[in-house]
Amino acid sequence: EKGGFPSFMDKEIHDQPQAVHDTLLGRMTAAGRLTLDEIRVDEQVLRQIDKIIVIACGTAAYAGQVAKYAIEHWCRIPVEVELAHEFRYRDPVVNAKTLVVAVSQSGETMDTLMAVRHAREQGATVLAIVNTHGSTIPRESDAVLYTHAGPEVAVASTKAFLAQITAAYLLGLYLAQLRGTKFPDEIAEVIDDLRAMPEKIAKVIADSGRVRQIARWMADTSSVLFLGRHVGYPVAMEGALKLKELAYIHAEGFAAGELKHGPIALIEPGQPVFIIVPSPRGRDSLHSKVVSNIQEIRARGARTLVIAEEGDDAVLPFADEVFFVPQTPTLLAPLVSVVPLQIFACELATARGLDVDQPRNLAKSVTVE
Ligand code: M6R
Repeated sequence: EKGGFPSFMDKEIHDQPQAVHDTLLGRMTAAGRLTLDEIRVDEQVLRQIDKIIVIACGTAAYAGQVAKYAIEHWCRIPVEVELAHEFRYRDPVVNAKTLVVAVSQSGETMDTLMAVRHAREQGATVLAIVNTHGSTIPRESDAVLYTHAGPEVAVASTKAFLAQITAAYLLGLYLAQLRGTKFPDEIAEVIDDLRAMPEKIAKVIADSGRVRQIARWMADTSSVLFLGRHVGYPVAMEGALKLKELAYIHAEGFAAGELKHGPIALIEPGQPVFIIVPSPRGRDSLHSKVVSNIQEIRARGARTLVIAEEGDDAVLPFADEVFFVPQTPTLLAPLVSVVPLQIFACELATARGLDVDQPRNLAKSVTVE
């Protein structure tokens, strides 16, 4: 069943191009129009929503955080992302004009299910982005958009994460189409870019020899930090979560802009830090700001492990290691930049002699609150 791979996690990392491809399949026309009829929510309701709240836990919540950047940009609707267990136990402002998007691989996470129930009681429309057919969350939601990642067996989520981002992006583009906040040709362009992603993800996996080697060399490391900005910020947190759950070592993700507000105090000689660098072709000055961050932490003796876009030579003087990923538009970058981090965690944990499919203390689906 592992398809010749040493672990389910390894197999599922390799399944990722297919998971993204399958999640896109049949949901748009050749001319670049979204056809999400399966959602079956009254279009009038979707035209009137004035807020989206994504509820999820763990990796699924990081997928939601990535999607926030894209959906707000395309739809001009405010998007909040909240951990389901926090949402449930405060007094959230939710009403009939709120679209709640519940993201879950298993469709059985109790925290997320309770939040779904709570949101519906307040009159919100709840749409589930779920991987497992026949599970509880879609049954209790108003609508469902399935991710087509196939069964995910390893406790650490990998291909479901990429499929969740893909599905949430389709939802964002669909809402932009419906509400007219983007021109059809702009939507068609993003769709073309999404269609090109499986091949780029496959390339990152094929080129992962160096990250595997570094991970094995770092098997004894006791702490790794991850920095990212914009969509790279949730990617940094996801990279840290993978390492915590698989290798049982201290790992923390930060927003790169937050560095000088505290975390830079953690930087000392030899501290390994992954930095996810935004595309130099993107808007604003994000790229140069993150490159300055690398410079700052390198100057304090940290070991900089940089994930950057192919051709981004500006990072070279400050990087101890660079893992290049194919060029992508900024919003789609998480689909490639998270992959070296997944591979790093899987390989490092394996080098420590740990079972990556069944990490200690964890269950694949958390069916208690
Ligand atoms: O099945 P779900 O997507 O609802 O699960 C949510 C989290 O429990 C899950 O993503 C967890 O954080 C994973 N172990 C992460 O690798």
